[in-house]
Amino acid sequence: MIKMGLKSLKIQVKKEIETAKSLKELNGIFKKYLGKEGEITRILHSLEKLPKEKRIKISKEANELKNFLRIKVDEGTQELKEKTQKEMEEKEWLDITVPGKRPILGHLHPLTQAKRKTEEIFQTLGFSIIEGPEIESEWYNFDALNIPREHPARDVWDTLYLKNRLLLRTHTSPVQIRYMQKNQPPLRIIVPGRIFRHEATDASHEINFYQVEGLMVDKIVQAANFKAIIQEFFKKFFDKEIKIRLRPSYFPFTEPSFEVDMTCLICGGKGCSACQKHGFMEMMGAGMVHPAVFKNSGLNPKNWQGFAFGMGLDRLAMMKYKINDIRLFYSGDLRFLQQF
Ligand code: FA5
Repeated sequence: MIKMGLKSLKIQVKKEIETAKSLKELNGIFKKYLGKEGEITRILHSLEKLPKEKRIKISKEANELKNFLRIKVDEGTQELKEKTQKEMEEKEWLDITVPGKRPILGHLHPLTQAKRKTEEIFQTLGFSIIEGPEIESEWYNFDALNIPREHPARDVWDTLYLKNRLLLRTHTSPVQIRYMQKNQPPLRIIVPGRIFRHEATDASHEINFYQVEGLMVDKIVQAANFKAIIQEFFKKFFDKEIKIRLRPSYFPFTEPSFEVDMTCLICGGKGCSACQKHGFMEMMGAGMVHPAVFKNSGLNPKNWQGFAFGMGLDRLAMMKYKINDIRLFYSGDLRFLQQF
């Protein structure tokens, strides 16, 4: 009976192993026949009860079946492992010879490019780069710069007021005071930064734009030093000699005061919408630091002299890249930005 059973068992085992589709199934087959309660295990345990001759014969056949099962399960396991590996390789196949896709890289905004170039040039001239807050107090933006509350000069700067006597700074000049309160001359700084004005826009005026404040203070500093430094800056910034002119002007925080114009590079001096047909573009206000500014910063005006200027960074970039409308900088139009 056992003998018959062993033969058909072998056929059954073989069939089951061949149709197994996973390692789990193979494991199950192994346990089913050779586990503690497995059928072959049971046969091997029941041999004692048989007569010696029969016992030897059946034990031999049962052990052969046991080895057969082991080998078949090992082979099946190996085959399944190889199959899974192959499938995985096919699925995850990677052709490393395919050319890569270039990511689209952005680039710096033309105003940032102009700002960085300006900083680089002034640093070579011994100036440090300083920053100040965009939200200012009335005192720093006006009073400390010798512009009292009721003075008509305040109207020049159309101001966006906030609560608690705070405002959006209308120029970078308040940083002059902030810096001199904390640092003793001699000093040379530039202050690039964003400023805000509540005014009508046109080709050369925005409500939000950038200025670069400049301040140089020492025992002896003259307007001639200012002119030399500005001329050198323009030459380095535009990579050529630039024709500039100084016009007398008025600022409450400088005395004397002047404005600096340069030949409009957009029209080559002929006159265009950007320079309002003047042929010159107004680039900055400037002058010799007013004694009241030194006093308000805690310095003795008898001991120090200096020049200061406030340059329009947007206008600098307009001249450099020949952009005829300042509003393009803030348009967010990629067709414009991708040209730089
Ligand atoms: C001032 O803001 C003074 N703080 C400059 C100054 C500093 C004078 C230190 C003396 C000493 P003004 O308002 O003129 O000045 O502005 C300076 C420059 O900013 C102008 O020459 C121009 O280049 C630029 N600018 C002025 N208004 C605008 C605007 N709406 N849009 C773009 N640029 C402007």
